Amino acid sequence: MCRYSLNPYRETAPQWSDPLRAAFEGDDILDLHHSLDEYRATPLVSLPALADELGVGQVLVKDEAHRFGLKAFKGLGASYAVYRFVVGELTSRGDPVPPVRDFYRQPGVVEAGRYTFCTATDGNHGRAVAFTARKLRQRAVIFVPGNTVPARIKAIESEGARVVTVDGSYDDAVAEAAAIAQKSGWQIISDTSWPGYEDIPRWIMAGYLTMFREIHEASLDTPRVDIVVIQAGVGAFAGAAAWYYNMLHSVSGVKLMAVEPTHADCLLQSISSADGNPVTVAAEQDSIMAGLNCGTPSVVAWPLVKHGFDLFLSVSDDYCVRAMRRLYYPEGDDVRLVSGESGAAGLAALLALRAEPSLSPAVAFLDLSPDSSVLLINTEGDTGAAGFGALVDASGHESG
Ligand SMILES: Cc1ncc(COP(=O)(O)O)c(C=O)c1O
Repeated sequence: MCRYSLNPYRETAPQWSDPLRAAFEGDDILDLHHSLDEYRATPLVSLPALADELGVGQVLVKDEAHRFGLKAFKGLGASYAVYRFVVGELTSRGDPVPPVRDFYRQPGVVEAGRYTFCTATDGNHGRAVAFTARKLRQRAVIFVPGNTVPARIKAIESEGARVVTVDGSYDDAVAEAAAIAQKSGWQIISDTSWPGYEDIPRWIMAGYLTMFREIHEASLDTPRVDIVVIQAGVGAFAGAAAWYYNMLHSVSGVKLMAVEPTHADCLLQSISSADGNPVTVAAEQDSIMAGLNCGTPSVVAWPLVKHGFDLFLSVSDDYCVRAMRRLYYPEGDDVRLVSGESGAAGLAALLALRAEPSLSPAVAFLDLSPDSSVLLINTEGDTGAAGFGALVDASGHESG
């Protein structure tokens, strides 16, 4: 079942707190990403046949399946947050801080094995933390929920990390990681936050800004975007989009829509709760969109999402599968995109909007028409390779 909620708390010019501003206004984010050998701007593609089919003027897709060789966008956040953490430590010890553009090219910046970085993850963020730890020759211990598929665990282990499987949900893994990290003296690099643990999750959101800057650079000669669709787990990625499109993007009037799985719609439930504060969803989070299977919004992301987004939508897995297939088997001159379950959520939302009569007020609100230009983010490729092949029915598909 798909649901929507318009945002009664939307502000036209949101005022966000000083700590949020300080994190997002760092002028070192793009430079830091340039210090990774793997850094390349990811592709921004236009899918005209898909746009026709959806009755809109343009569909642009930012393809994060190519980010750093990790198949998902999450490395942008983890690499920036670990950098900020390490710089803070070096500064407090009076040790030299390397120039930001060289940071990840100087493996000796911290002595090997000094830190154990730890996080809970549905897969992608954990791999990103493990990748970053490996770059700096540090250890990583990554906690995953019980239903994590073997491909995601192997991908994290391939970065040299230890993986701990928790008997429970993503929220259970977050609690376990925090408790064990505290006992063991490990440094948590979490993309979700809770009261008292806020700096690192803010830096993670700030790291995602590089993606929006690249989109801006790549789309300077294309028509403006009217609607941006952002898939959400704990809402950190949505928080970065809220900041970018409300504070940094000079074109006003962009409508921001969040998409979540039906059983993990914590942003939608929070925005429609009696007081508009974050709530934890009661349902078991069993969507195939593993990266979005989160039951509780991140506290540092929530103010951004609450005042900076326009519309919240939840979609069922069947729309997600249709979207994955449509992107893998393109029509006309559209290019093929390998879009994993969470990656395809944005298109799933558009398919649902076109198919479900109960969502027609949301379609009207978005003014979806042949004049609309829509931006989707393919946030992951085939991160669960076997599942991907089975879901898109791609017998010849080889995971790269
Ligand atoms: C592929 C993918 N897309 C989207 C998200 C959602 O990001 P957030 O949890 O910041 O809302 C995740 C989170 O892990 C993800 O892995």
